[in-house]
Amino acid sequence: MNDGKIFRLGILGSGKGSNFAAIADAIAAGSLPATVAVVISDVRDAGILDLARQRGIPTRFIEPGLFRTKLDDTAESAYVSALNEAQVDCILLAGFMRILKGAFLREFDGRVVNIHPSLLPSFPGLNAWKQALNYGVKVTGCTVHLVDQGVDTGPILGQSAVPVLDRDTHDSLHARIQVAERKLYPEIVARLARNEIEVKGRMARDR
Ligand code: GAR
Repeated sequence: MNDGKIFRLGILGSGKGSNFAAIADAIAAGSLPATVAVVISDVRDAGILDLARQRGIPTRFIEPGLFRTKLDDTAESAYVSALNEAQVDCILLAGFMRILKGAFLREFDGRVVNIHPSLLPSFPGLNAWKQALNYGVKVTGCTVHLVDQGVDTGPILGQSAVPVLDRDTHDSLHARIQVAERKLYPEIVARLARNEIEVKGRMARDR
C-alpha cells in the first residue's frame, strides 16, 4: 500500500471515536508511520469529530442522505471527493455505521479497512458483542479486515481474542473488546503502512 511516502489515512466514524484516538495516539507516539489527513462523520455531533478537532486534524461532517444504513449516491460521491481531496492512501472505518457499496469501493478498491467487534466470520452486523454474549460463546474478540462488497466479509488482516466471563453484561464485554480494539487496530495499520501485510483470501466479489 505504500511507496515510501508518508502514509495518508482518511478515517470515517459515527461514534465516540476511541479507535480513532488510539490510531492518532500511536502516530503521535511514533509507533505508526502515518498521518491522519481527514476525519469524516455522517453524524454532525459525533465525538470522533471533537477528538479530531482537539488534535488539530481536519474534519468534515458530510450528510449521509436518504437512507438509514447506507450512503445515498449523492452522499457517496461527496465522501469520495472529500477523501480524494485529502489524498488518502487508505481509509479506516472506525465505528462508521453505514454500509459502503458500489462506487465507493470501486474508487478505493482494496484500500478500505474496518474494525469489527467480534471474531469474524462469527457475528457480523450490528451489536456483535451482544450477539456473542446472547449466543453463549466463551471467547469473542475483534477483527481488522479489508472491506469488500459484503457485510463484514472481506479478507482478515488481524484478530484479537477476548474471553467472555460468566459475570459479563453487554456493556462490560463491549468495554473489554474495545480495549483489545485499541491495541489491535494501530498495530495492523502500522503493518499496512510498512507494507508488511500480504493479503490472503479473496474479495467477496471474486468468490
Ligand atoms: C467499535 O467497537 C467498533 O468495533 C464498532 O463500533 C465501535 C466504535 O467505537 N464497529 C462496528 O460495530 C462496525 N460494524 P469508537 O467510536 O469508540 O471507535
